[in-house]
Amino acid sequence: MHDIIHELEKKREAARLGGGQKRIDSQHKKGKLTARERLELLLDPDSFEEWDMFKEHRCTDFGMAETKNPGDGVVTGYGTINGRLVFVFSQDFTVFGGSLSETHAEKICKVMDHAMKVGAPVIGLNDSGGARIQEGVASLGGYADVFQRNVMASGVIPQISMIMGPCAGGAVYSPAMTDFIFMVKDSSYMFVTGPEVVKTVTHEEVTAEELGGAVTHTTKSGVADLAFENDVEALNYLRRLVNFLPANNREKPPVQKTNDPAERLDFSLDTLVPDNANKPYDMKELIIKMVDDCDFFEIQPDYAKNIITGFARMDGHPVGIVANQPLVLAGCLDIKSSIKAARFVRFCDAFNIPVVTLVDVPGFMPGTSQEYGGIIKHGAKLLYAYAECTVPKVTLITRKAYGGAYDVMSSKHLRGDVNLAWPSAEIAVMGPKGAVEIIFREEKNDPAKLAEREAEYKAKFANPFVAGARGFIDDVIMPNETRKRICRSLAMLRDKKLDNPWRKHGNIPL
Ligand code: COA
Repeated sequence: MHDIIHELEKKREAARLGGGQKRIDSQHKKGKLTARERLELLLDPDSFEEWDMFKEHRCTDFGMAETKNPGDGVVTGYGTINGRLVFVFSQDFTVFGGSLSETHAEKICKVMDHAMKVGAPVIGLNDSGGARIQEGVASLGGYADVFQRNVMASGVIPQISMIMGPCAGGAVYSPAMTDFIFMVKDSSYMFVTGPEVVKTVTHEEVTAEELGGAVTHTTKSGVADLAFENDVEALNYLRRLVNFLPANNREKPPVQKTNDPAERLDFSLDTLVPDNANKPYDMKELIIKMVDDCDFFEIQPDYAKNIITGFARMDGHPVGIVANQPLVLAGCLDIKSSIKAARFVRFCDAFNIPVVTLVDVPGFMPGTSQEYGGIIKHGAKLLYAYAECTVPKVTLITRKAYGGAYDVMSSKHLRGDVNLAWPSAEIAVMGPKGAVEIIFREEKNDPAKLAEREAEYKAKFANPFVAGARGFIDDVIMPNETRKRICRSLAMLRDKKLDNPWRKHGNIPL
């Protein structure tokens, strides 16, 4: 027995060493942690249960029969984050560059299948040279097996991808189908074709970092949600994100006790909106002052900044927040912001997270680049997302809610449950100046008359009471009581039940 135990320990030791000390040192030199070190930071201490530690590839071509590494380049299993179950896979770049073989894929599929059976999130730590070149189509098949599971798991269990090294070619499409992508600056990149192929095909010279680094994907392409300085920071944030999410689509998100009173008033909000309607203010100030303990976990903070999305808690219960940001492009809706917010609303809806929408929107962004880019279709995504959404929806209009954008931003007409407005709200087809120039076109050469008309229009529409008179706004509230009123609305809606009609799936404009 003693010998067998010794043998087991030896085998475990060999597996833990992955591709060997030299390659581990080289990983560290690049500022990267190893697959196992990453899992240690991600999961609660001593909670990791590893599977398939001894699994090996079956390839015999190109001398591969002599180069077998136990675990085959990916560490898989389950553990807990703050006591809550998660399934994990962490690619080990020290073994064949973390490349994905048939058996490597089988290991990932095994944890995904179990995660689906028990209803728990899957977190993938990606650090891989892509498909295992020596295996050819067997490894491509392995990717497709993972892709298929990503799609089946979409909207059933949360899936989170952390890119901590290379992720190129077909490999990008598994993270692309997960709910959130985090990246580490300077050590991770994602692209469908690398800089060399780009140079050959389009003659562009670009570095890997510029083409598909963390900053590129969190500011330009919007492919990734958050960029971090290093592995440790990234993994800490991942733990924080998991705290807001339910384990699956049949559970409610986890409640966390807070000492921040739900009825807390904040009188500084009474002066947040400037008297001049064209002056911006920072919508994040309202968010921070409204949520529990000023704790806001922003998603995509550096992309389409004219809309803010993220998670917070109100009276201990997680909420998704969507808010126009008047500081950027006056809070207009454009292609990027519509897509960003639509995806976020759909995530919240899939996972039973109520949506709180803060509105200050002068309309959709005009211009040829927007129209040629398909703002009609992309703007419709946000409209569609809000309209199909059945979780509790609480909306607050702080200032402008003009035109079609008023309808889109979780209005009463799209089954908004509670729609509130501050006294500063202006709900109209468009701003007073533009409106008067159209309906009183014949007076365009008479500035005095136009100014009079504008004042008249302002008095009539630049307020929340016309909408209130029709019941489109449930109440006009003082800014200082925003937290209290929204917390009460969410408490009232806690057991909301609303089903959409049966269908195979809707046809969201893509
Ligand atoms: N299949 C098999 N082995 C791979 C691999 C792959 N796709 N990608 C990397 N490796 C191996 C390398 O042979 C090397 O092995 P060694 O340690 O025994 O020498 C090891 O992983 C590390 O790779 P290396 O190239 O030294 O690391 P790097 O940091 O300099 O470069 C990459 C990383 C990913 C840019 C580079 O390895 C690469 O271009 N890989 C191929 C990517 C690809 O085209 N994949 C297929 C398309 S999906």
